[in-house]
Amino acid sequence: MKEFYLDYAATTPLDNRVLDFMKPFLEHKFENPSSMHSHAIENKKAINQARKKVADALNASPDEIFFTSGGTESTNWAIKGYAFKNPDKREIITSKIEHKATLNTLHFLETQGYKVTYLDVDAYGLIDLKQLDQAINENTLMVSIIYSNNEIGTIQDVRSISKICRRHQTKLHLDAVQAFAQLDIDLQDLDVDFLTISSHKFYGPKGVGVLYVKKGLELEPLIHGGSQESKQRGGTENLYGVVGMGEAARIARLELEKNRNHYQMLQIDFHQKMMNAFDDIKLNGTPCGSNRSYNNLSYAFKHVLGHEFHFQLNKLGVFISNGSACNAQSIEPTHVIKAINVEKEYQPCVIRISFGKYCKLEDHDEIIKRFKQAYDEIRN
Ligand SMILES: Cc1ncc(COP(=O)(O)O)c(C=O)c1O
Repeated sequence: MKEFYLDYAATTPLDNRVLDFMKPFLEHKFENPSSMHSHAIENKKAINQARKKVADALNASPDEIFFTSGGTESTNWAIKGYAFKNPDKREIITSKIEHKATLNTLHFLETQGYKVTYLDVDAYGLIDLKQLDQAINENTLMVSIIYSNNEIGTIQDVRSISKICRRHQTKLHLDAVQAFAQLDIDLQDLDVDFLTISSHKFYGPKGVGVLYVKKGLELEPLIHGGSQESKQRGGTENLYGVVGMGEAARIARLELEKNRNHYQMLQIDFHQKMMNAFDDIKLNGTPCGSNRSYNNLSYAFKHVLGHEFHFQLNKLGVFISNGSACNAQSIEPTHVIKAINVEKEYQPCVIRISFGKYCKLEDHDEIIKRFKQAYDEIRN
């Protein structure tokens, strides 16, 4: 049976070109980049080349790029690192539809006496900008917002969010884990202070990410140790991961337009076919073509349970996500689905389909057939 992977927002496979680039570092280029002999110095250079590639992809400067273990660590670092550095400001603003990396970091800070404001979103998942404007005050440490939502694909109006933050002289962290490689992120143009990305979302290796820190800003390190990452994050570098991420970022930037067109074509076609195939279905988030991630389709069904649908599709070789991968075991609607006020009768079945560059338009009819089969299996 042919299998179909439609869960690229959870993670992407490694691009073969990235694997080829990483190979020498997995095979024989093993020397510790902090050592002072010649091969080690070459490895240090490889890390800095990777840093330059990520910087170029974001139009930032290499000394603003710090390698981490992924999106979760970068987010933790941006928020806690800035909080620890500026202990006088004890209020943080975020939205109700953030990734758990942000929400649980903030829940921790709440236990340390911080006040967190969770901004409302509308039925599409768009942040209430007026509420943001009113929520910022002289005690606000920072605002942390997800750029493109991992569950429902809503893309926030980051330009307006940034303007509001600037007007109040408040710092802004963007969780761009799902946005990078889909949107044209130019940090000379988009005015943000911290930005998080993660390699495994754009065909790079897992366990490596980047935190962009705008020049002049300081964070308290979370990982104390050696002098790696300009003394900001200790620990021997994940050499093959870092060089892989650099190459993946370079390719992602180079092929941004091509991939985006491909995702858009897949999204439009698949959505039409889903709407024709089912009559008890609703699209969660913004409409296709309007502030919506090009590779995301999130649906709510009325008459089936999400985990059953997910399970049946899995048996039929179609791999999607039950709402969000992080909630794969849970039948409870996610915080995002609750926040956008999906009608109660639709809440138990939310599925996420996310496309990637290896998806093919000609597979759609077969995939939709299996969706129908899974649905009928549950209903009969
Ligand atoms: C929006 C968003 N933020 C943060 C993360 C965490 O990234 P990582 O898996 O690299 O820790 C994810 C991963 O799913 C995500 O989708």
